[in-house]
Amino acid sequence: MSVKVVINGYGTIGKRVADAVAVQPDMEIAGVAKTRPNFEARMAIDKGFPLYVLAGRESDFKNAGMEISGTVEDMLKAGDVVVDCPPGNVGAENKPMYDTAGIKAIWQGGEDHELAGISFNAHSNYDEAFGCDYARVVSCNTTGLSRIISTLDAAFGVEKVRATLCRRAADPGDVKRGPINAIIPELKMPSHHGPDVTTVLAHIDIDTVAIKVPTTLMHLHIVNMVLKQDCTSSDVIEVLGENSRVRFVGEGITSTAEIMELARDMNRPRSDMWENCVWEDSINVSERELYLFQAIHQESDVIPENIDCIRSMTENERDGARSIKKTNKAMGL
Ligand SMILES: NC(=O)c1ccc[n+]([C@@H]2O[C@H](COP(=O)([O-])OP(=O)(O)OC[C@H]3O[C@@H](n4cnc5c(N)ncnc54)[C@H](OP(=O)(O)O)[C@@H]3O)[C@@H](O)[C@H]2O)c1
Repeated sequence: MSVKVVINGYGTIGKRVADAVAVQPDMEIAGVAKTRPNFEARMAIDKGFPLYVLAGRESDFKNAGMEISGTVEDMLKAGDVVVDCPPGNVGAENKPMYDTAGIKAIWQGGEDHELAGISFNAHSNYDEAFGCDYARVVSCNTTGLSRIISTLDAAFGVEKVRATLCRRAADPGDVKRGPINAIIPELKMPSHHGPDVTTVLAHIDIDTVAIKVPTTLMHLHIVNMVLKQDCTSSDVIEVLGENSRVRFVGEGITSTAEIMELARDMNRPRSDMWENCVWEDSINVSERELYLFQAIHQESDVIPENIDCIRSMTENERDGARSIKKTNKAMGL
């Protein structure tokens, strides 16, 4: 069955989810929604995506010479599932509209877990979203943490996790938050990211602290984990190496800037790096205590997770591992 997917909010995440859906053999884009007739709306038209708009904004698009297919409410009639991608906290306001339309909905990490009742990460809890009407794909940082924690937990057991997150201050195209020149400690301790991991891995003991740093190129995590079983650094490398959404970096890569250069060299769309980038040399285990550094591409690591979430919710694939394989193959990951 080809699942008809509609995207409400065509910004950083929405346009990437749309492109990822469009390359899946078992999915198609039935519409994307914009509020303003800007360059992104023009790109959506150029890509052949039916363009829908917020009710009341039709004339703005007409005046800009952009052909539209209707309002967001019309778009919801054309889809089996809506991927909600407006700025954080706006998505919650859309729930009554989705309820009325009777459409399955996926929200992003900027919304609260309680909105959907189920949070999602493909490696951690694919089965939990199977057949459900609502789910929330956890944020970029939570996705990055959940991938490695779930993998190491399955292999060795995880006793506790303590992680420090150095968060990018803004996305590269986000001029609203710039110019940027400061380091900002998040004084709420522990930060919200630890509890967010437990929305997909309930049994994990995790605390996180966070600072914002003056960069637009990726988050960097300093991860400390106590494992339940004795193991060596090589054992951890072997286990993480089996996770298709973990990429080891080294060979002269000493920074997030060089990872972004690698993504450009790989001809990745928008220089996206969908995998966690773990510095292999940083993996150190001593007396069950593991340390590692990983970089997380905030704009793109959640994109394959959205695809797997669609497959799970629409019952298009029962097995999480198989869905991950299909998604990766279609995206070139
Ligand atoms: N960027 C990241 O690093 C990142 C990573 C993981 C998760 N997330 C989460 O993903 C969600 C989307 O974030 P984003 O970074 O993609 O935001 P974004 O780049 O600001 O894009 C959101 C888009 O939504 C549109 N929009 C605004 N109000 C809307 C409404 N009422 N209805 C429909 N569309 C509306 C805006 O487009 P118009 O031009 O049409 O107004 C805007 O381009 C948030 O929950 C965020 O927390 C973001």
